[in-house]
Amino acid sequence: MSRSISGFSKMSKRKKLRWIVENFFKDPENVMQELVSYWHKNEESQKIFDGFSENTISNYFLPYGVAPNFVINGKTYVVPMVIEESSVVAAASSAAKFWMERGGFQVDVLSMTKVGQVHFNWSGDKEKLLRVWDDLKETLYKDTESLTENMRNRGGGILDIELLDFTSQEPNYYQLKADFHTCDSMGANFINSILESFSKSLVGFMKRHPVFNEEERGVEIIMSILSNYTPECLVRAKVECPVADLGNFPDNMTAETFANKFYQAIRIAHIDPYRAATHNKGIFNGIDAVVVATANDFRAIEACGHTYAAKDGQYKSLSHCTVENGTFKFWLDLPIALGTVGGLTKLHPIAKRSLELLGNPDAEELMKIIAATGLAQNFAAIKSLVTTGIQKGHMKMHLANILNTFKATDAEAEKATAHFEEEVVSHHSVREFLESLRGQSVGS
Ligand code: MEV
Repeated sequence: MSRSISGFSKMSKRKKLRWIVENFFKDPENVMQELVSYWHKNEESQKIFDGFSENTISNYFLPYGVAPNFVINGKTYVVPMVIEESSVVAAASSAAKFWMERGGFQVDVLSMTKVGQVHFNWSGDKEKLLRVWDDLKETLYKDTESLTENMRNRGGGILDIELLDFTSQEPNYYQLKADFHTCDSMGANFINSILESFSKSLVGFMKRHPVFNEEERGVEIIMSILSNYTPECLVRAKVECPVADLGNFPDNMTAETFANKFYQAIRIAHIDPYRAATHNKGIFNGIDAVVVATANDFRAIEACGHTYAAKDGQYKSLSHCTVENGTFKFWLDLPIALGTVGGLTKLHPIAKRSLELLGNPDAEELMKIIAATGLAQNFAAIKSLVTTGIQKGHMKMHLANILNTFKATDAEAEKATAHFEEEVVSHHSVREFLESLRGQSVGS
């Protein structure tokens, strides 16, 4: 058995898989068959998936669900969601329906600015650099004209370039910080290409400009890369209604008590980072599911959201709530950089269908849909937490999953569902119940 290999990336997919199963699995033939069974039956389609990444040996399936009844700025959507966690889609759907009956989600995109940086070292007279800054900036714009032409024609491009001095924190360290508008694309390639062009122009400019002496002509570029923190690419999703219209809650909880407990749950997530992390995780349950369904970059979107949540120096809730003058208001401010063109958005066949299902939104509209889904998810989680607790809903799905693992028949599942209405669901308790029904062991 060998656990290391050279030339792996050059091997055919089948050979890669063969090497993997033979060296890492006890029953290679079965595993080979199983992983091959998840290859797409259409070779052309499989080629598309293999093209997304490297060293692919199979496809990894996740459920593709939908949450209907999302009314956003008066328009009704069915939202596609890719997520492995049970109850998330059900929760989004129930919150969407709840707010559909109370006016829906009001969502505004507040700004669309993306950010990129060139980090560089330079030791010289800063006054001279400031004196030539306008010339340098003009050179940076000019040298990228051909790269930005298309985007400018679509209404985007470079919005601004700043020179930032970080030398008090790190010797000789400066930054070019640029703002971009990338229209309907996420814009990562566009921004990174421009930043690399900026670096070259910066080096050439400093080398040539007569104001600098011999020592000041050298610039050391550290790196040129977009920032995933885009606080100015911001969307706000909001719901509100009179407290009295919130309705009835389990165990005779009044709408007023619900509103106050809900408000306090949000306050707690503003006060305590331990709670804030879980609270925001719940928001991202909804956000990520739509982000993945539309083939956007969920790591970038998570990184941005969590950085924004810590913008005041302490990690806090991304959502806010007020209960004032008899009105319940609940909203989410979300920085989110995404695209509806470029990247995998049209290459991934299911992502393409997700966008079609949403009516082929532009980037602004998709930002709104995703923010509304995040808010809905958060509403559903807090609603359960301050009323019944989340386990009740979770356990239903959990029970269904356990029944599946024991290959329960429909009749057994029906009996189990009735039985576990009042009983605690666990792997052990479901097995015992099935054994009592079947009068024999069901295995583990
Ligand atoms: C579980 O995936 C998400 C929740 O924990 C979110 C929350 O606590 O707000 C239910």
